[in-house]
Amino acid sequence: MKKILFFLCICAFIIACGGEAEKKTAGKVAKKAKKAKEIVVDGVKIYKTYCVICHGTKGDMGSNGAFNLQTSELSVDERKLVIKNGRGVMTAFKGILKPEEIEAVAEYTLTLKK
Ligand code: HEC
Repeated sequence: MKKILFFLCICAFIIACGGEAEKKTAGKVAKKAKKAKEIVVDGVKIYKTYCVICHGTKGDMGSNGAFNLQTSELSVDERKLVIKNGRGVMTAFKGILKPEEIEAVAEYTLTLKK
């Protein structure tokens, strides 16, 4: 009888420890995810800061002859190139935005498409 009790105690101990360790790793993963989120650049914010002046909040303002982004057929990569190097009146953003910011804002412009 004593042996069984001892065995049960060991089992309970192992289960308790296992649960604890699991909680710890889950916490670590959550922390990492939070950190990664902070690094992610916000395409909306960049668009509102640098692009709205010509393209407008919905992409169709067309000031300074800006292309209507709602009807643009360019792919993300082609958009990245236009944003990076500029085109016609449009400013080249390679010295202003980081590559990951250019990517984020290019992806955001795709969401303006109708
Ligand atoms: C100074 C005004 C101006 C600003 C600021 C500006 N653009 Fe433009 N954009 C233009 C003009 C003008 C064109 C058309 C260029 C041409 O071919 O003559 C254009 C074209 C584009 C195109 C190509 C569309 C197509 O289908 O050909 C994309 C994509 C674009 N802009 C995205 C952006 C983004 C993203 C930003 C902000 C980072 C931005 N633009 C800021 C004026 C501007």
